[in-house]
Amino acid sequence: MHRFALKIYGCQMNVYDGDKIRTTLVDRGWKESAEDEADLVILNGCSIRDKAEQKVWSDLGRFAVRWANERKPAVAVTGCIAQSVGRRMAARFPWVRFVSGPRHIGAVPDALERLFPEENGEKSGGKEEAIFLLDDDPRAFLELPGAPTERVNRWRAFVTIAHGCDNFCSYCIVPYVRGRFVSRSAEDILEEIRTLATDGVLEITLLGQNVNSYGSDFSNGYGFSSLLRDAAVRTGVRLLRFVTSHPRDFTPDIVDAMAEHADILCPSINLPIQSGSDRILKMMNRGYTLEQYRAAVSSIRDRLPDVGLTTDLIVGHPGETDEDFECSVRALREFRFDLVHSAAYSPREGTSAAAREDQIPRDVKMARLNEINSIQSVIAREINESLVGRRFRVLLDDAAPRGEGLLQGRTPSDKVVLVESGEELLGRFVSVEITGGENWCLNGRVLHVEN
Ligand code: SAH
Ligand code: SF4
Ligand code: F3S
Repeated sequence: MHRFALKIYGCQMNVYDGDKIRTTLVDRGWKESAEDEADLVILNGCSIRDKAEQKVWSDLGRFAVRWANERKPAVAVTGCIAQSVGRRMAARFPWVRFVSGPRHIGAVPDALERLFPEENGEKSGGKEEAIFLLDDDPRAFLELPGAPTERVNRWRAFVTIAHGCDNFCSYCIVPYVRGRFVSRSAEDILEEIRTLATDGVLEITLLGQNVNSYGSDFSNGYGFSSLLRDAAVRTGVRLLRFVTSHPRDFTPDIVDAMAEHADILCPSINLPIQSGSDRILKMMNRGYTLEQYRAAVSSIRDRLPDVGLTTDLIVGHPGETDEDFECSVRALREFRFDLVHSAAYSPREGTSAAAREDQIPRDVKMARLNEINSIQSVIAREINESLVGRRFRVLLDDAAPRGEGLLQGRTPSDKVVLVESGEELLGRFVSVEITGGENWCLNGRVLHVEN
């Protein structure tokens, strides 16, 4: 029996993939253990920005002493980072024995077992070579079948509905590491949701880089709103969310489906604006103008007045002038998002923006990022304070990171709420009254517990 430790970095897609790998290994008799007892450490890493990559590089360095003494653990680098810099990691650290990009996830469990040949009764055959699963074909995708029943969280799960992305935004590495856009079959998705619901999952988040274009590669007219409706009525799941929506492809039928099934489809939408300047949006290849973005927001807020609207914003894209940056500041003030995932532009090898000569100096990017963050923290606090006294139905699904006796859940609009409670309320739906609003979360008290 092999012991493995799994560390997941990056977005929910990596969490989903990590949960799937864990589930398959446990089904095959592997045991999950602490990192310092593991024979194999899997690092499922992210490449979206340099900072995300650096986390994995620095984690890798930590295995040197144990490797020198025990020849353990073997390290497997998986996820988006494996596709981008996995070979370099294996060249630098001898304990990196396995590298697999996200499109090869279906082959990972078998290949990991090949890392321990003697214990399988085979001979290792002298010097062991590292295993690389890095096909260059961006259309190839090997599914790993089965629902992720061994999860990071017992009540909450993710289900990827489409792999890859065809949009090639100027700054983004995702199409290079995750490959072309491919929708999963609706029946597979619905079946997976049913399996998870039977396994006790109460809330599922559907994942895709551009969920609205789900089905655009089918020829039967079945699209994202069809999937939302089917998932709401045909699977038994109690709450459904989704990320990420692309502003260019956000169509009214999606909001219609949300309004029709408001008890299950949570009114929360992440609609990444990326910039408030039309000039920069064009350079970014985003495919919409600020005016078109504004129209999408209006159609959402008209139909779903209590919607939680979040966004992603990049500052310091090559060529961004002070005037362009001011457009982004004005956009934040105009749209008053509940949350902004802000980032300083980070050049990614192979992307078109990285090759531009008009890169913005680091100190300018950081100053712009600080300004955005301080403006948004005031807006978020104002919105959150305005919710004091409101009541929401909340699934308590985790211990709060900040202290004993606190549990957390999310409002339908996806705001984190902290409540004082013992663990007995984990996995329960409760009615919560909001007692306070902070920048990043709400505080509340439990009024009553649903049966
Ligand atoms: N598919 C989603 C985003 C996926 S990547 C969309 O189209 O919006 C998640 C976020 O990371 C992006 O929204 C963007 O804000 C940020 N990001 C991506 N590449 C980046 C880069 N090179 N530098 C800084 N932030 C980046
Ligand atoms: Fe990246 Fe753009 Fe695709 Fe989002 S839509 S994953 S930002 S290329
Ligand atoms: Fe990172 Fe890959 Fe997600 S690069 S943000 S883990 S799609």
